[in-house]
Amino acid sequence: MLKTLDEVLPKYINADAAVGAFNLALFPDTKVLIEAAEEMNAPVILQISPVVAEFMGYDYWGMIAGEMARRSTAEVVLHLDHANMVEPIWKALDAGFSSVMFDGSQLPFEDNVRITNEVVKRAERYGASVEAEIGSVAYLGRDSHKDQLTDPKEAAAFAEASGCGCLAVSVGTTHMMRTQTANIQYDLLESIQNEVKVPLVIHGSTGLPDSQLVKMRGYHVCKVNIGTALRVAFDKGLRAELEERPNDYIYIDLLKRPLEDEKQVVRKKMELLGF
Ligand code: G3H
Ligand code: ZN
Repeated sequence: MLKTLDEVLPKYINADAAVGAFNLALFPDTKVLIEAAEEMNAPVILQISPVVAEFMGYDYWGMIAGEMARRSTAEVVLHLDHANMVEPIWKALDAGFSSVMFDGSQLPFEDNVRITNEVVKRAERYGASVEAEIGSVAYLGRDSHKDQLTDPKEAAAFAEASGCGCLAVSVGTTHMMRTQTANIQYDLLESIQNEVKVPLVIHGSTGLPDSQLVKMRGYHVCKVNIGTALRVAFDKGLRAELEERPNDYIYIDLLKRPLEDEKQVVRKKMELLGF
């Protein structure tokens, strides 16, 4: 079933679970994620960045991943991740994505509200959901992207004024970590959830220790973004396969192991998140 974030997330505000949102790189990742969701009896959010969407084509993501979602027994959201301009969002909506993120985290508050609101109004016409970000989750090794913890009052004002369906907040994670050594600031997360009504989203969750992924279930965190862990598992599996079979060149065979390794990571994260 193809769903929006607004249809899937709210029921997890008070449930002992949170939904995994996983970043895709190529079409085969769609199969991995949907199979994992069906096996684990979990909903899943397929996240596609503007760079990835452009590489294969927005329309083809809409047709292929969208159709796979519609045919699945699991609840599947087809979501554009981290668009910091509106053009990729308009393309994703036209292509049939059920959800988009406008990332105005690097903009002044007023500009972030104004553009998020414009996106919300346009997405409404497509029946799509909108995620926005306040505060800023940094990227490891990218100094140009500011790192700023979310202010609870500002988050509440932002959610109210922008009309976003769910809100990404910065409470201690960093994107693209390869070790699970990040630390959630629980006092801050609690203050935010006391002020903000909409479901909360945690980015950069590859960096969270397993115990903290489990703990997310007890907060109003409904969407947990994980990307790097999948890429690392795939990369390791592919390198091992190439080393073991240096003369093979049929890449559909070479891809089986890395894709299976990626699926096992997804299944484990889903389990930690309560499925
Ligand atoms: O939006 C995507 C995520 O925040 C993924 O972050 O690659 O650090 O897990 P990660
Ligand atoms: Zn992110």
